Amino acid sequence: MRYNENYDLNIITTIKQQGDALLTGRPQPPRMAIVYPTYKCNHNCPGCDYEELINKNGSSMSEEQLLWLIHELHIFGIKALEWSGGGEPTIHPGFVSASKKWIGYGHQFGLITNGKSIKNPKICEVILGGAKYIRISLVPGYERPFQVKKETINSLVKQRKNLLPEISLKLLLTRYSIANIDDALDYALDIGVDSLQFKFVRNDKLAEVDKKREIQVREYIKKLKSKHHSIDITLPVAGSVRPKMIADHPCLASSVQLLIDPIGDVYLCCYYRHRTESHCLGNVFKEGLNNIWGSEKHLKIINKVDAEDCNKYDCRFARYNNLLQSHNTSLLIQESCKSNFF
Ligand SMILES: C[S@@+](CC[C@H](N)C(=O)[O-])C[C@H]1O[C@@H](n2cnc3c(N)ncnc32)[C@H](O)[C@@H]1O
Ligand code: SF4
Ligand code: SF4
Repeated sequence: MRYNENYDLNIITTIKQQGDALLTGRPQPPRMAIVYPTYKCNHNCPGCDYEELINKNGSSMSEEQLLWLIHELHIFGIKALEWSGGGEPTIHPGFVSASKKWIGYGHQFGLITNGKSIKNPKICEVILGGAKYIRISLVPGYERPFQVKKETINSLVKQRKNLLPEISLKLLLTRYSIANIDDALDYALDIGVDSLQFKFVRNDKLAEVDKKREIQVREYIKKLKSKHHSIDITLPVAGSVRPKMIADHPCLASSVQLLIDPIGDVYLCCYYRHRTESHCLGNVFKEGLNNIWGSEKHLKIINKVDAEDCNKYDCRFARYNNLLQSHNTSLLIQESCKSNFF
């Protein structure tokens, strides 16, 4: 994804329109739905925020529920679907049929994956047929540098048409994986993907990088970015460097997205993991989206977002929220220009 002034400004304008409409009782459907079809996973990454849920019950929605959900999202007016987890979305038995159904409605989807299923021809085919973007999380291993063979991703790169899907790799930065930053870059350059993202692990005391080291790593990645122009290197959201969500402000940014977990619970945003009760808007299988979106409960939750919880993660929307509070358009543009996600 290429970040630029227009990109940021578009987001801010959409968020403002959507947020105002929601708060004044004229809700518009959000543009995007993030769907977690399963809490099961075929990998075991150090620092994974969902480890407990994956080990505990590994809940999944049934294939029938998943197909119903795809229809519900379409008739509700959602334009963008992102498959992700809590868990690995591609191992859900209904992943291919649900993706095909979504494509059949004339939409594309995004996919956040550990990439281990790409070698499955049916999954590869549906990705090539309907994914707008795919982001593969890299996990350093002992036997080979990362869990997915270069050739597997490279074959996806070679088969795509008109540069779609956009393919990015992501390395979650833990105290262990910071040693693999150069490996990740070599790997990404070798394969010829569009971008390489780095993100610091949060909420895991054992895996987190200490603050002093984080600043050094940040500087190092900045240098890599200035040296390598054939690939887009990003470090989204800078934690201590970026403005954080300010206390007692509503989260307008949540008005453009919703998240549905494997049991059908609908959440305000993807940072719900450690605040399931205060972030849950309802259950899509019991209530349907029409009754959930824009409900009294929904508005109450938007207005009562706990900034401290938001700031445990690097929510990239917090900055948009803060800028919207300033009501200063020229400041919005200036901020957008200098952001570049560093
Ligand atoms: C939970 S995974 C689910 C999708 C898929 N299994 C994957 O690994 O891409 C989604 C993203 O969350 C990130 N993630 C997991 N635990 C995290 C944590 N503690 N802090 C920040 N990001 C985390 C992963 O790196 C991954 O990019
Ligand atoms: S592959 Fe994704 S869901 Fe599975 S353990 Fe790793 S980060 Fe967590
Ligand atoms: S983490 Fe907080 S600021 Fe970010 S989208 Fe969620 S509720 Fe809004």
